[in-house]
Amino acid sequence: MRHLMSPLDFTVEELDRLMDLATDIENNREKYAHVCDGKVLATCFYEPSTRTRLSFESAMIHLGGQVLGFASADSSSAAKGESVSDTIRVISCFADICAMRHPKEGAPMVAASKSSIPVINAGDGGHQHPTQTLTDLMTIRSLKGNLNDMTIGLCGDLKFGRTVHSLINALKRYSGINFVFISPEELRIPDYIRSDILDHNHIPYKEVIKLEDVMPELDILYMTRVQRERFFNEEDYVRLKDFYILTKEKMNLAKENMMVLHPLPRVNEISVEVDDDPRAVYFKQVQYGMYIRMALIMTLLGLDGKEA
Ligand code: NCD
Repeated sequence: MRHLMSPLDFTVEELDRLMDLATDIENNREKYAHVCDGKVLATCFYEPSTRTRLSFESAMIHLGGQVLGFASADSSSAAKGESVSDTIRVISCFADICAMRHPKEGAPMVAASKSSIPVINAGDGGHQHPTQTLTDLMTIRSLKGNLNDMTIGLCGDLKFGRTVHSLINALKRYSGINFVFISPEELRIPDYIRSDILDHNHIPYKEVIKLEDVMPELDILYMTRVQRERFFNEEDYVRLKDFYILTKEKMNLAKENMMVLHPLPRVNEISVEVDDDPRAVYFKQVQYGMYIRMALIMTLLGLDGKEA
């Protein structure tokens, strides 16, 4: 049995197969409509979510399966003090696969160690968010054709943003990747990413504060929200929340084929006027997120779709 805790749990070849399957699902939706008939997905979300939870649920429903679960810690037995280890043992009796989001780093891993069904990490604290990363990789590969040779700018809350941490970790295995980190001093990428991932793998990167300065060199711009829920005080959040706002004027500085991604939810960091720019692909990204989760559910359940 396999779980998904980090994007590195799959080899590059396995990721390619997963994305190929997601592309086939995208192009032949009806072929997969009953692959998960009789199967149940549990979504155990101890932290708020719209996209990730509904994307998982929608993925399972589109495969013919059913879903159950909870959307907040308050509405689960966690409010009574139950541990994730006990909860997953119980969920294992009700479902065939579980997607779990938790504010504590490592909680889905603890659950996986006690689980008799596959567990997917749907975001653990400020640590990892592997299915968002699969979504990001799928979006870039589908729209650009491959995942090599690009300058990718990550902008915003690089300190607390788990999607950023996961994506850097995943991209280190591709060639010709250049990172540009755009953040205020207080929200720079954590030291462990700089030393253990970037320096350790000799990956070129630079850190800047002003987005305008680097706009012309980017192939991908990955915008992120300032992670209010992970701040220690509201004052710092208020001071930093509108540090970056991507506008039409800034888009004018970018390459014609640059792509803007965002894991969403957006707060103020991308002005709505940018939504009509063909380079803004963050809503397409949501669609790819459902296809890649369909492919992931099938793969972890050992259903390759050949019988479909
Ligand atoms: C992200 C998350 O939860 O980390 N959202 C998502 O899953 N699409 C990004 C965010 O909340 O800012």
